Amino acid sequence: MNRILTAVCAFVTLPVMAVADSSDQEAAAAGERIFRKCQACHMVGADAVHKTGPVLNGVVGRPVAVVQDFGYSDTLRALGAEGKVWTPEELMEFLAKPKDYAKGTKMTFAGLRKEEERAHVIAYLATFIAEDG
Ligand code: HEC
Repeated sequence: MNRILTAVCAFVTLPVMAVADSSDQEAAAAGERIFRKCQACHMVGADAVHKTGPVLNGVVGRPVAVVQDFGYSDTLRALGAEGKVWTPEELMEFLAKPKDYAKGTKMTFAGLRKEEERAHVIAYLATFIAEDG
């Protein structure tokens, strides 16, 4: 009886995990395409260097404006000093309209109007940890 139960459990859990994984991967893959809009100013990955904007490796979950060798605006520095952290929720808000979120930001990007695009690009960014850079 127990063996049957174990088999049933394995059968039920595995597909569920596979679905969760593949949807994360799909979101990140879609995010990679959206990130093309950011690439004029930002890089990610092992060879990333600052452009107009800072390298974004490890940005998800990190405090705002803490990359040492990047010259942030006073606005972004002030948000960092207040203790703001780039949680996915904060990024969702920032990326919708950077200038509304942080008046005076140097990020001259209109924003991503579609919630889904923001979610996807955040999922993509979350695949790059700080050590990648
Ligand atoms: C025209 C150039 C430009 C584009 C396009 C752009 N950014 Fe930025 N980004 C910047 C600059 C400059 C800063 C620094 C802002 C400041 O100091 O006020 C920045 C800051 C950021 C930060 C905060 C980094 C930190 O360390 O606190 C994030 C996150 C970010 N950008 C994400 C994105 C994403 C995602 C996109 C694409 C959807 C994007 N940016 C498009 C120029 C750009």
